[in-house]
Amino acid sequence: MPAAPSPATLPQAALVQAVDRAMARFIESRPLPANLREAIRYSLLSGGKRLRPILTFRSCEAVGIPAEQAIQVAAAPAAAIEMIHCFSLIHDDLPAMDDDDLRRGRPTLHRHTSEAMAILAGDALTGLAFELIARELQPAELAARITLELAAATNDMIAGQVYDTLPDFDPQTPKIERLRTIHHHKTGALILAACRMGAMCGGADEARLEAISAYARAIGLMFQVVDDLLDVTQTSEALGKAAGKDQQQGKLTYPGVLGIEESRDQVERLRREASNALECLGVAAGPLRELCDYMAVRTK
Ligand code: IPE
Ligand code: IPE
Ligand code: MG
Ligand code: MG
Ligand code: MG
Repeated sequence: MPAAPSPATLPQAALVQAVDRAMARFIESRPLPANLREAIRYSLLSGGKRLRPILTFRSCEAVGIPAEQAIQVAAAPAAAIEMIHCFSLIHDDLPAMDDDDLRRGRPTLHRHTSEAMAILAGDALTGLAFELIARELQPAELAARITLELAAATNDMIAGQVYDTLPDFDPQTPKIERLRTIHHHKTGALILAACRMGAMCGGADEARLEAISAYARAIGLMFQVVDDLLDVTQTSEALGKAAGKDQQQGKLTYPGVLGIEESRDQVERLRREASNALECLGVAAGPLRELCDYMAVRTK
């Protein structure tokens, strides 16, 4: 049965503000060495699209929770997923990984401070994300479910980063399948968890959770195909991070394996798949539908 129509939703800026507040407040509340706190704040509170927390809030809304309430009940997982994402970016940029100097239009954290502080800030963000859920999410049974979801996704993201650094990890398997594995793990896993945690906080039944999960799997892969396309079609200035790096570093990417046109076709196919998955959720899923349309055509 389709969900009842939701009342007027909140603008995206209100969701961004809610997650930024939750993260800033939590970081301030913890006893951290001053330079570690400064390093965390530099990376965490420096912009970024906040897509994962927005997905958490919108998924909560899509299963029937009014937007005003969704930003309260899903605030802890929304903040936690952005903290894990931020940790993944800090470490992704390190010299031992992608070796990047620019992130979100500013010097990467290891350029701003030191490699040691960037490694430690990433480490600390992992612990802080789980601490935030343990301290702020009720009831305990929901907190345990969310913890498991986020932990599994974090492990999958790390596995994806491992495959990404070793694109020959399974040479017998065709490149396109290896690519799907890399992208589903390194990027899809956190996007899937972002959506599922929002739905769980909204008390979704199995059918709705499955619809949200199908949507999230499609947009998770789509998001990284678009990221690969932007790397070859945009400037560093426009992206706020280095463009043209993937080929230079011998990464396995969609445009590298399928070409630009075929990659764009894949984006469109995944966008449709995601949108169709939401059918049973009715108008409550309108904001999620709009988000996937935006994610397909984003330019940064
Ligand atoms: C960048 O993610 C890393 C990928 C998984 C492709 P985003 O494009 O969401 O980065 P921010 O958070 O907006 O900076
Ligand atoms: C990033 O993939 C995936 C994670 C950070 C987990 P990329 O290496 O393509 O991301 P960007 O392009 O540096 O943002
Ligand atoms: Mg990378
Ligand atoms: Mg990178
Ligand atoms: Mg990239």
